[in-house]
Amino acid sequence: MSAPLRLLAIPGDGIGQEVVPAALAVLRATGLPLEVASAEAGWGCFERHGASLPDETLAAARAADAVLFGAVASPSHPVAGYRSPIVALRRALDLYANIRPTASDAQPGRRAAVDLVVVRENTEGLYAGRERTEDGGDTAIAERVITRRASERIARVALELARGRGAARAPRVTIVHKANILRETCGLFRTSALRVAESYPDVAVDELLVDTAALQLVQRPERFDVIVTTNLFGDILSDIASFWGGGMGMAASANIGDAHALFEPVHGAAPDIAGRGVANPLAAIGCVALLLDHLGRRAAPAAPADVPTDAGGGDQLGAGAYLAWAGRVRAAVRQVLAGPLLTPDLGGSAGTEDVTGAVIAALGAA
Ligand code: NAI
Ligand code: MG
Repeated sequence: MSAPLRLLAIPGDGIGQEVVPAALAVLRATGLPLEVASAEAGWGCFERHGASLPDETLAAARAADAVLFGAVASPSHPVAGYRSPIVALRRALDLYANIRPTASDAQPGRRAAVDLVVVRENTEGLYAGRERTEDGGDTAIAERVITRRASERIARVALELARGRGAARAPRVTIVHKANILRETCGLFRTSALRVAESYPDVAVDELLVDTAALQLVQRPERFDVIVTTNLFGDILSDIASFWGGGMGMAASANIGDAHALFEPVHGAAPDIAGRGVANPLAAIGCVALLLDHLGRRAAPAAPADVPTDAGGGDQLGAGAYLAWAGRVRAAVRQVLAGPLLTPDLGGSAGTEDVTGAVIAALGAA
């Protein structure tokens, strides 16, 4: 008997409360051994308890094998004592790699060949939280922190990902920066990434300025394989890229560190549609596939990929079992996307629960 996966669910605010249960239902439908605990974070939590990320939530996240995070509604004006819990979790758990894939294959009517991953540095840059005001509040300053260590490790993640992704074409990593203007910060990011790339002669490496990359993501998205970039650029570029996969309701992401992993849809709390049962659950369900990929990769050294269950010695399922389920979840999502049950963001009129039920039915029939 394999030890169950101990998953912490943090639904958060708005549609996080709707899409996390959907993702959990799909994960449960795999029948994989699973223990789910729940914890609070976000704006509602701040209003109730005076903390956006309570100590118990952080402790539970540290103790879990993985975290499934929904979304939080962070105000755009400063609120004393409030901090973004997702940014705090990324830093506290050292989740340094934010992996945001986009593929257009499942989207009818979209261009066919987009299959790219934005690898975003997740712990520093302009999200380091080093902001202050001067001049009695008339000047605001943000410090952009870039380190060689963080730049090298995110470059390594991107290069390994490109190498192991099994994309149809030769692996390529595009380093995105603005080193012509931000000579020190982007300069260090660029040289660090290029240096790491020297050890990956089998991966083609090129570089683009961020503004050019933004245009090319619109004009020629099929040119990209893996993009590696700094925190804010990655946040913005991944939203642009998500268009090709069906938009915010489809975009899933993984936040990976050496000791922890957290999975979250890229979208936010979507206050405009929250509470109406029409949020697209497929981004959150895509997170289930990313979680299963991660568990599969983590199990891989201990268990040959073709062994479907416990390979002996370990207390986790074999890599093959997780990777097979990741594939089945993706296939079930593709099957649902080909049918009539779509949420309004994809042009349909189905609700969150209908779509979730359809994915589970497709999974059962697989
Ligand atoms: P948002 O992602 O919440 O919504 C943007 C647009 O996309 C809205 O029209 C929304 O209805 C639509 N949308 C998003 N997810 C959808 C889904 N699953 N199905 C159908 N439609 C979907 O971004 P917005 O409006 O800029 O921010 C709202 C709040 O969310 C803010 O408080 C912001 O701070 C927070 N936010 C939180 C994030 C997180 O928790 N990681 C990420 C982005 C924003
Ligand atoms: Mg974003």
